[in-house]
Amino acid sequence: MSSDLVTFVAGLPKAELHLHIEGSLEPEQMFEFARRNRVAIPFDSVEQVRAAYDFSNLQDFLDIYYAGADVLRTEQDFHELALAYFRRAAADGVRHAEIFFDPQTHTDRGLPFAVAADGLLSGMVAAEAELGVSSKLILCFLRHLDEEAAFATLKAVEPWLDRIAGVGLDSSEVGHPPSKFQRVFARAGEMGLKRVAHAGEEGPPAYVHEALDLLRIDRMDHGNRSMEDEGLIRRLADERMTLTVCPLSNLKLCVVDDLADHPVPEMLRRGLHVTLNSDDPAYFGGYVADNYVRLAEATGLSREALVQMARNSFEGAFVDDAAKTRHLAEIDAYLAEVG
Ligand code: HPA
Ligand code: ZN
Repeated sequence: MSSDLVTFVAGLPKAELHLHIEGSLEPEQMFEFARRNRVAIPFDSVEQVRAAYDFSNLQDFLDIYYAGADVLRTEQDFHELALAYFRRAAADGVRHAEIFFDPQTHTDRGLPFAVAADGLLSGMVAAEAELGVSSKLILCFLRHLDEEAAFATLKAVEPWLDRIAGVGLDSSEVGHPPSKFQRVFARAGEMGLKRVAHAGEEGPPAYVHEALDLLRIDRMDHGNRSMEDEGLIRRLADERMTLTVCPLSNLKLCVVDDLADHPVPEMLRRGLHVTLNSDDPAYFGGYVADNYVRLAEATGLSREALVQMARNSFEGAFVDDAAKTRHLAEIDAYLAEVG
């Protein structure tokens, strides 16, 4: 890796908009929580855990990811998980992060909704005080579960409504189209929540259309397969839809065979509002700055393109205009400083 590029990217102010906090559980922390909570895990060493992270598709990963999340048992675990993520993110130049969590993964194991929500929220407050990184929390519905379970989750969130920015949709995509959650997303919109959804990661362009038309999303997670549909590309550009793209995730889950063939350069040429994100960094081999660096090295993306994506990340964030202006000015100041 070019050390100039690494230094440039780490210093570039950016937001991270696609990060599953359960996917930031590093193997070391998995062992620590397992020991503390007396939970058995099917691994003897950190090396053995990392060796198991060899996935051939999304479902392969999800099976291990949900098993890993079982070590999270207490509010303190969630607090420490969040704080550890924010420390790494801050070192990568992240000034604002909008993080996902999967409440059903935890409530289905018998943990009260409050354990995950309050632990994460207190970790976010601590991170802002320690690191100056602001954040928002987005709950994702697991799309392999049914509509009724999603409605129950939406009901459970009511006491936290003032501290939750939005809802998302994740887990196994193919066979679980956005239309399955149209009514849940309509209700979330009435509750004043922002709406995002994973679409076009493994699923077809039709799922991206559904996410736009039926879920009325404010932001698109992944969206890779939109590139198979000319009309959709133009629509996403015209609507200035922010895409939260995750290159190292795409590589690890075989959404792309080679980073050199990643669609981001073409997305940018076609006027799409692309941002770069880490998705599940503990599982995919890199945090957000690694995604910028490795994609740039593999595809030859210019520094201007990297800066554009950092700008897009603030423009696509769920923050007010004053905050966007402040963050964008910080990018300008950084560029003036580094020449
Ligand atoms: N796709 C779908 N669901 C997920 C992902 C992802 O990349 N990461 C965590 N849950
Ligand atoms: Zn994701």
